[in-house]
This record gives sequence, structure tokens and C-alpha cells, in this order.
Amino acid sequence: MIDSAQLLEDAERLLPDLIDLRRRIHRAPELGLALPNTQATVLDEIDGLALDTRTGESVSSVVADLAVGAGPVVLLRGDMDALPMPEDTGLEFASAIDGCMHACGHDAHTAMLVGAARLLHARRAQLPGTVRFMFQPGEEGHHGARYMIEEGVLDGDVPVDAAFALHVSPNLPSGTIWTRGGPLMASADVLEIKVSGKGGHASTPYLASDPMPIAAEIVQALQVMVTRRINTFDPVVVTITKIRAGTTDNVIPEAVDMLGTLRAVSEHSRALAIDAMNQLVEGIASAHGMRAELTVHKGYPVTINHDDGASFALEVASDLLGAEGAGKMPAPVMGAEDFSYVLQRRPGAMSFLGVCPPGEHPARAHACHSNRMTIDEAAMSVGAAMYAALAVEYLGRGERDSPR
Ligand code: NI
Repeated sequence: MIDSAQLLEDAERLLPDLIDLRRRIHRAPELGLALPNTQATVLDEIDGLALDTRTGESVSSVVADLAVGAGPVVLLRGDMDALPMPEDTGLEFASAIDGCMHACGHDAHTAMLVGAARLLHARRAQLPGTVRFMFQPGEEGHHGARYMIEEGVLDGDVPVDAAFALHVSPNLPSGTIWTRGGPLMASADVLEIKVSGKGGHASTPYLASDPMPIAAEIVQALQVMVTRRINTFDPVVVTITKIRAGTTDNVIPEAVDMLGTLRAVSEHSRALAIDAMNQLVEGIASAHGMRAELTVHKGYPVTINHDDGASFALEVASDLLGAEGAGKMPAPVMGAEDFSYVLQRRPGAMSFLGVCPPGEHPARAHACHSNRMTIDEAAMSVGAAMYAALAVEYLGRGERDSPR
């Protein structure tokens, strides 16, 4: 058992440093798998701690082990990359890089994980095992976790026994922890549909093959498919987000190109929806004497928390914050995460940390991926303490009794 009050107090004391670090990262966001400056900042911040540190070969990751002796290995993940989008927060430490913003809180994740490294380093005498800190690039669609897994983040001389991650959310009360067993986040696939007809004069459609109404029919039919063919209790979302065709009022274009997303919370429904979409897209076009093709670019799989891992995280959170500080989510969220790859291979769980800014209502605060997204920086001390508590409690229980 840890002394929760002491851990929170120590984390509070670190808070000014964590805020400063988060703001430095926020001001200089980097995209994708190559984050040289963020990586250098992290290395600098953990320099001086007795950690066994290595950097990625194919990506700018940092893996650091706090190894104290024989015992289980617990992994804590913080992602570090930003988003290709403008920032309109007006903050004094707003992004100094045009078209690039930390709008998903990964700046805070990085700072909180550094905080956890310090908290755990100070307690290393009481740690019967190893804590592995996974500072990950390329979470925003770049499969950073997969690269790190290929480079052995879960293996090595001391393979990982369990893995935990935190993600901030402005739409949850500040300083609270939320998670659930089973599906936590959705899979995310990119849909590309091309309807091919025959161009012609807009006044004589019978001499052409107009792909426009076919495209419209497909958009509608996809929604009917979702409600009629997918189990209501195993939901999927299909959204067509872009339709491109045509040039002017009197020309029938040859083709229509559409783009969209498929979200699912089970691999079963995901596969079912892809099958059904192929059938609809090809069948509708062919019913009108045309051709259409669906291409699915597979994105992240469903993020599935292990039941034991999620109840362990909630237990740790309520020990740390009191019962009102931890909550079980009633349903998954339809966003996606590449921590899914880690949870496919190791037991564990991802949890959300509420960071609703002061004076705002969680339901109305600007969400992750908004150009106006802000956080309550004070909650970062809770995040750092929660990371640390997960590690202390996991190792303290010993491999035998730990959630698997
Ligand atoms: Ni994120």
C-alpha cells in the first residue's frame, strides 16, 4: 500500500515544474514519428535519475527503465506528438509553429510521465520490480506504438508483465479518473469510395452514366446498413466526410470520390460492417449499370481494456483520490488509440484523466482535437501521482496476484 496523501503532496510539489515542462512542449509541438526536440527535452528532464534509458531507432521514442531488482515489470505510457491543425487558444504559451498544435493533451501526458519518473525514483527503495516508462511518438494515426513494439518495448531482458496509460479529457471533471473493462475506444478505419460512371451533358443524362445519384444513394444506404444490420449493442459508426465531383452546372462528371470513417467497438462488428459496405457499394452501382469500389485503409484496432486491469486501475484511483475521484465509464468512446496494440499483447488498461478547465462545464469544454482545447494544468499532479500509484501498487502486489 502506498501513502496516498504523501504521494499526492509530493506530486503537488512537482506541479510548477510539470506546468513549465508542459508549456515548453506545448509551445514547440512536433508531428508524427520524428519528434527530435521533444525527445531531447524528455532525455534532459530525466537525466540525473537512475534510469536505464534508450532511444528508438526508427522513431524518436524514449524507453527508460527504473530497475530495482527481481520482480514484475510494469509499463507506463505517455504519448508525445501533436496534431496538424491551427491553435486558437490565445494562450501566452500557444504553439509557435504554424499549423501544429498540442490539441490532444500529449504535452501533458509527457510532463506527467516525467513527473511519475521523479516520484517513483524517490521511492525506488520500496519498488520490488521494474517500471518501464514508454515515451511514445506518432500516436495520432502514425502507429508509433507498433514501431516501439517492433523495437522491443514489451520484451528485452525483462519483458513487460502489464501496461497502463492515461489520456486527458477536458470533458471530464478535473482531477478524476475514468475507465472501464472491455472495449474502451473504437477501431478507426479510413473509407475511400469511388463511383465510376460516364461523363456527358447535364441536359442529356440518358446519354451518360451519372455517378452523382449513385453516390447519394450509397451515402444513405450506408446509414440504413448501420441501423438494420449491426447489433444495436455492438455499435459501429459510419460517417462520410467528403464528397468530391464535378466542375460546373452543365457537365456530368465521370466519377465521384468519397471519403469517410468507420468506427467499431468489436472486431466482429468491424468485419461485418466492412463486408456489408462492400456489398452495398458494388451492388448499388451495379444495379444502375455502373461500377463503384470501396477501399478500406485499416487504422488502429479496438482498444480493449483487460477487465482485471481496469478494475485494478479504478481501485488504485479510488485509493488515491477517494471514491468520488474514480468512475466507471458506462460506454466506450468512439475515438481511437494505438495503445490498443499494447493491450493486444499485454494485460492492463488505459484510463482517462479529467482536465476540465476551471470555470467551464465538462459537457461544454472544448474537446480534444479542438483548436481551442485547453486543460486544467493543476490536474497534472493527479496524473503524475496516478501513474506512480499504478506502478507502486502493481509491483507491490507481486507478479502472482497482479491483474493478468
Ligand atoms: Ni490523444
